[in-house]
Amino acid sequence: MPAERLILGIESSCDDTAVALVRARPGRPVGRILASEVTGQNALHDPYGGIVPEIAARAHAERLDGVTMRALAAAGLPLAAVDAVAVTAGPGLIGGVLAGVMFAKGLASARDLPIWGINHLAGHALTPRLVGPLAFPYLVLIVSGGHCQFLAVLGPERFVRLGGTIDDAPGEAFDKVAKLVGLPQPGGPAVEAAAADGDPRRFDLPRPLVDRPGCDLSFSGLKTAVRRARDRLAEAQGGLFRADRADLCAGFQAAVAETLAARTARACIAFAERWPTGSPTLAVAGGVAANRAIRAGLAGAAAGQGFAFTAPPPALCTDNGAMIAWAAAERMACSAADGLALPARPRWPLDAEAAPMLGTGRRGAKA
Ligand code: KG4
Ligand code: ZN
Repeated sequence: MPAERLILGIESSCDDTAVALVRARPGRPVGRILASEVTGQNALHDPYGGIVPEIAARAHAERLDGVTMRALAAAGLPLAAVDAVAVTAGPGLIGGVLAGVMFAKGLASARDLPIWGINHLAGHALTPRLVGPLAFPYLVLIVSGGHCQFLAVLGPERFVRLGGTIDDAPGEAFDKVAKLVGLPQPGGPAVEAAAADGDPRRFDLPRPLVDRPGCDLSFSGLKTAVRRARDRLAEAQGGLFRADRADLCAGFQAAVAETLAARTARACIAFAERWPTGSPTLAVAGGVAANRAIRAGLAGAAAGQGFAFTAPPPALCTDNGAMIAWAAAERMACSAADGLALPARPRWPLDAEAAPMLGTGRRGAKA
């Protein structure tokens, strides 16, 4: 049986500075999270209405040491107890990724520790095995502010992309819709709350691509349809009433939930055809998976295809250091550490053979 390792995981590819300590046996699910500290940056970016990459990078550089010390203190362990350093090496906003990689290299070289450069999406995709004994291959849907893709997870370093967004990520669309109707950022929770007493059928909003073959998704047309509906109301009555806002949010949320559910059903079918002996399980990760209507839609679509549905707890769905430490534990079972020449990569598709994804939103490259 492989020896247990204590891994320090660092994440700084978007707007969360996150560090965690995870104890794991390489290649064996389930890991033990001893500490997981996350410091967000909403207050820094709020005045600008979205993430400003330079501000994010500077904040990561200033905070990484403090967040690391907090994680060590929370675990009650000294730095000397750490066996390996894992860091997000891409994809993401390059300034933040560089801040994390440079910090990790400093730690690794000072303490003479092995360093693992982790793909952020691999961190999300492997998280189900951090929390439960799920066998490869399985199907995962990553739905966040920066990403949206279906992946067959064949092993710690083997992923096949079955489909993804061709424009915006759903979280990005939630954030933009929130802005359109005058709600605060991050938009997802605000739109979900406003949608609670809205009529999802009042506005006729599109379900993009649902009838097309394959599992790709698109959300930018939907966002434009919301903007047009808002503009029509503003012109007719001089602004939005509370009920208008609730109905727009409810209609938008229902459209996203139905679109994701329809494409998930197709992804389950595609996965089962290609990997008939795989685990018929759909795992979801990413901040948008916190949305109850979307979660219910995904669970229903999976059940309709005979798939189990699993979602990590919310703190492991959103960006965190534990998923990065865990992805390193998984990789330790099949390859050597990366070394100090490790590059930071703004784009880094998990599936090198899939066609490049379009779009580089304000939250960084899509893959
Ligand atoms: O995974 P995450 O924390 O960060 C990355 O984007 O990588 O996801 C954040 C995104 C934001 O766009 C936020 O608006 C969205 O997830 N989000 C939600 C909800 N909670 C967070 N979207 C819809 N409904 C929610 N309840
Ligand atoms: Zn993420």
